[in-house]
Amino acid sequence: MKILVIHGPNLNLLGEREPEVYGRTSLADIDKRLAGLAEERGIEIQTMQSNSEGAIVDAIHEARTWAGGLILNPGAYTHYSLAIRDALRAVRLPAVEVHLSNVFAREEFRHRSVIAPVCIGSVCGFGRQSYELALNGLLEYIHSRTEAR
Ligand code: DQA
Repeated sequence: MKILVIHGPNLNLLGEREPEVYGRTSLADIDKRLAGLAEERGIEIQTMQSNSEGAIVDAIHEARTWAGGLILNPGAYTHYSLAIRDALRAVRLPAVEVHLSNVFAREEFRHRSVIAPVCIGSVCGFGRQSYELALNGLLEYIHSRTEAR
């Protein structure tokens, strides 16, 4: 089982970017913890970060040839990228939306996600742990679907 983890714009600055909102953990640390969890669960993960919408769309397209599912934190694209939403719908891979912060406790423009309706679920507000919760949830979902067949 292989899972693609996509980190969107500005997440390369985690640790130094608004630490009171996003915490002090760097993106490299998040990826390391995810790799550890993946090893424990006997799966493989590939992670990528991009500040560009097109690169994220391309990565989602490519994932349809090798991944069993996706975890993505689309950053600000969450709130308006119909291109990322359409890409997810097109590839039909199970995807989980992740946010470090509780977007619903923040500015109004962050309350709307155009991505959530094409995901199997969303996790937000648990800092770096949001990713780990998302990975566990995604794997449970995938396993329950394969068992049901
Ligand atoms: C974020 C929330 C978004 O609103 C914001 O634009 C981000 C980070 C989060 O992880 O909490 O860049 O996705």
